[in-house]
Amino acid sequence: MSSSSNFMMGSIPIAAVDRRNCCQLPTIRVGSLTSAEYVNDNSEHYFCRKSVSCWDKFYKRHQNKFFKDRHYLEKDWGKYFSDTDDDVNAKVLLEVGCGAGNSIFPLIAAYPKLFVHACDFSSQAVTLVKSHSNFTEDRINVFLCDAANDDLAETVLPSSVDVVTLIFMLSAVSPNKMLLVVQNLKKVLKPNGHILLRDYAVGDSAQVNLENKNQMISDNFYFRGDGTCSFYFSEDFLSSLFVRAGFNMVDINTYCRQMENRLHNITVQRRWIRAIFSKP
Ligand SMILES: C[S@@+](CC[C@H](N)C(=O)[O-])C[C@H]1O[C@@H](n2cnc3c(N)ncnc32)[C@H](O)[C@@H]1O
Repeated sequence: MSSSSNFMMGSIPIAAVDRRNCCQLPTIRVGSLTSAEYVNDNSEHYFCRKSVSCWDKFYKRHQNKFFKDRHYLEKDWGKYFSDTDDDVNAKVLLEVGCGAGNSIFPLIAAYPKLFVHACDFSSQAVTLVKSHSNFTEDRINVFLCDAANDDLAETVLPSSVDVVTLIFMLSAVSPNKMLLVVQNLKKVLKPNGHILLRDYAVGDSAQVNLENKNQMISDNFYFRGDGTCSFYFSEDFLSSLFVRAGFNMVDINTYCRQMENRLHNITVQRRWIRAIFSKP
């Protein structure tokens, strides 16, 4: 395990954005209301309560064109998806927050015996998965589910899943609800099953931009211009969350890559976190 200040690929860490107090809501205009007017429930920010419709609008607008297929999952975590020798015990995967399927379709192509449960709380996303040319009900069970509110065990057999993938999904959930999501996953995961997570890390250039635009909801949690939300993880925060839910931490690392934006002649730092947890 590396500490939260150890970034891979040799770049210099920048100060983590981690304010103790929420900033005042900015009075930016979204639709016909100001964001200050949107907040009428002190316990949850407007955009947290509206997250389903914001993600629905996102997929209506971008269809399946926004994210690229994520072929790095096979490279990074191949052994967790590998087929077993017999068909009866073929591996079962659950991808939570599957979006348009950019994680699951490369995986079913690479691992012919893998069976995938995939869920998302956006009905638009579920429709996109079902309309993909490689969708087949024999190998993919895709369903609508809000992992923070609905019981996954109503659709997926308890203790039946070998691997859960959370690919840039948990960051879209309010930190107040992350523990509920992780506890929900635990019910359907087999003992010794694994959770594989890849998500945004503290100090990512997108976080710095949101911070500069005063779009903070709470510590390391922001809303974007389209109303979708994004949390930026430190290793300490993420490991504490899963340990609190009763998981063991197998591996956690933060990665950093400098990217050149030639159009604006600037260099930005993309940061992401990769972690593996196991159910005892
Ligand atoms: C950044 S996208 C990632 C999509 C996909 N995992 C991939 O690899 O491309 C995040 C997804 O999480 C979904 N999501 C956010 N909160 C959710 C929740 N509480 N339950 C289920 N899905 C959720 C969103 O609808 C969105 O499709």
